[in-house]
Amino acid sequence: MPLCDLDKRAPLGKKVMGLDVVVWWDRNENEWKVFDDRCPHRLAPLSEGRIDQQGRLQCVYHGWCFGGSGDCKLIPQAPLDGPPVHSFPIACVLVYPSTVQNGIVWFWPNADPQYKDILTKKKPPYIPELDDPSFSFHMFNRDIPYGYVVTDFIFY
Ligand code: FES
Repeated sequence: MPLCDLDKRAPLGKKVMGLDVVVWWDRNENEWKVFDDRCPHRLAPLSEGRIDQQGRLQCVYHGWCFGGSGDCKLIPQAPLDGPPVHSFPIACVLVYPSTVQNGIVWFWPNADPQYKDILTKKKPPYIPELDDPSFSFHMFNRDIPYGYVVTDFIFY
């Protein structure tokens, strides 16, 4: 997703290679985050939520709030003197490893914890012209219902 198509004030949902993801700006960690676009509570799309006053991603349905690590920070309905249900692993959102390169948010399409640091070893393809001010270009994104192999063919 090109950065020029993202808004730090609002999450954005996308379907990429069959995965429903939400991209959002985590101002606490100064990073774009890519989460599974399903709230762990009742599976509402987190992309329809908002960024709350503490900079957390908040689900539109019952207001659960998530930090940049996918950890649930708040369950508004949970009694304050009850068990810390928000900290239970089942209350976490899946987080995809992501990075920014060439003005584009990239993500690794597998949220399994074994890939948590994958982007330190495997980088997205670097396109030097996109960082070269002597080149001009226009970025946009468009949803195309193809597999990635077919779209590779189109762009090359
Ligand atoms: S579905 Fe997200 S808080 Fe209930």
